[in-house]
Amino acid sequence: MKRTEIKTLLLNAEVGAKVNVKGWVRTKRGSKNVAFIALNDGSVIHNLQVVVNFESIDESALANVNTGASISVDGEVVASQGSGQKVELVAEKLEVLGAADPEKYPLQPKKHSLEFLREIAHLRFRSNTFGAITRVRHSMIFAVHKFFTDEGFFNIHTPIITGSDAEGAGEMFRVSVLDPLKLPMTEDGKIDYKKDFFGRETNLTVSGQLEVETACLAMGKVYTFGPTFRAENSNTSRHLAEFWMIEPEIAFADLDEDMELAERFIKYLIQYALDNCMDDLQFLSQRLIESEKDKKAEEKSMELIEKLRFVLNNSFEHVTYTEAIDILKNSNYNKKKKFQYPIEAWGTDLQSEHERYLVEKHFQKPVILTDYPMGIKAFYMKQNDDGKTVRAMDVLFPQIGEIIGGSQREDNYDKLVTRMKSQGIPETEMWWYLDTRRFGSVIHSGFGLGFERLMLFVTGMGNIRDVIPFPRTPQNAEF
Ligand code: 4AD
Ligand code: MG
Repeated sequence: MKRTEIKTLLLNAEVGAKVNVKGWVRTKRGSKNVAFIALNDGSVIHNLQVVVNFESIDESALANVNTGASISVDGEVVASQGSGQKVELVAEKLEVLGAADPEKYPLQPKKHSLEFLREIAHLRFRSNTFGAITRVRHSMIFAVHKFFTDEGFFNIHTPIITGSDAEGAGEMFRVSVLDPLKLPMTEDGKIDYKKDFFGRETNLTVSGQLEVETACLAMGKVYTFGPTFRAENSNTSRHLAEFWMIEPEIAFADLDEDMELAERFIKYLIQYALDNCMDDLQFLSQRLIESEKDKKAEEKSMELIEKLRFVLNNSFEHVTYTEAIDILKNSNYNKKKKFQYPIEAWGTDLQSEHERYLVEKHFQKPVILTDYPMGIKAFYMKQNDDGKTVRAMDVLFPQIGEIIGGSQREDNYDKLVTRMKSQGIPETEMWWYLDTRRFGSVIHSGFGLGFERLMLFVTGMGNIRDVIPFPRTPQNAEF
């Protein structure tokens, strides 16, 4: 018999139909004459209840039906009397495909901590929480491509191995085939990268922006969606060493159009989740409520689905960096020294505590901060006429802090070269990037959305390690 997925069965199966299902056992409980198996096959958050009557199936067939075992069941769909679903399956034939020794199987049918699940990342797909996250993650990936396709953008595969440091922050992972114990040296005592695979120093990319800009200045509207790598030693719940970023780039568009695109894009993704992932969101909402049940009322998060709707129904607040510094400086938080990093002078970078204060306490909705001091932003950002600030924008979200970073790009060749010189970025290596400003340069803008930060927001999870299948963080690359 052809297999029916549990999602399809729960949606469409008619009482009386004969079907085959395959999946992994979540729980088994029973009495003298009958056993109940909760079966999950990953297609949907809900389990299918399989009823085994010992009159028709010998009890010995259940010997290896334990949590974690994979089984195949032929049976008849019947109306359910209380499994939480409309239908259940009365087994007529049951086969164990792969047993799971209950003494050794790490995932017991009880609540496991997220920390423990991280240690068994290869099995955590089988937990309700990670199953839900995996399905939502897929939907968000699809929605990203759908949004840009519908808007007439072209997807560009930018390189993962690169010779340039797009953000100029020097936080890159080297890519080399040289033997670290026998490094070839030049006459002046430096490592001779001419002998390396690419004949030059190469790294994993921190961003596809520079390459996607070159495509933008021919194709008009483009985006890249790829893995990016940062060797920053930030062991926080918001940072990964390997994360996925969506970077659109639009020609003939200034910062205002860039911000408009960013807001519309994020809202589209959230709406898509509400329209297509409601079962999983409801589960995740319940999970969040339970995980916060011991918190004081004022410390509890907004209910997940309400929070998603709230973002959809409010326009993002636009504030300049300079205005934000004034707000922060004059805040009670600052005066009462509640910030770990007190706000002192104009020109320093904001910490996530400051970003969250602006979003959660002051404006109480998403904020787009613009026009940052030149000194704390990347070389490619468009300089303002004041000679001090650049046309940068960061989108700040509750609980997350920065979810998007973007800017209008410096399209003036001379200004760009001066900026690169002052930041010590070698012009010779960036000749191809500079060419775009020498030949047919136009105003253009773009941004990067951190995909896992979006996932944190949409799922209500608190740690970025729990929204990517196999997290890479300092001192951790298991699996
Ligand atoms: O602000 P960032 O560094 O911007 C860029 O890389 C630009 N080249 C984007 C562009 O204009 N095309 O990073 C963009 C976003 C951040 O806002 C954040 O959401 C995410 O990427 N991000 C990280 N996410 C997880 N772990 C990290 N270590 C991250 N660093 C940045
Ligand atoms: Mg940034």
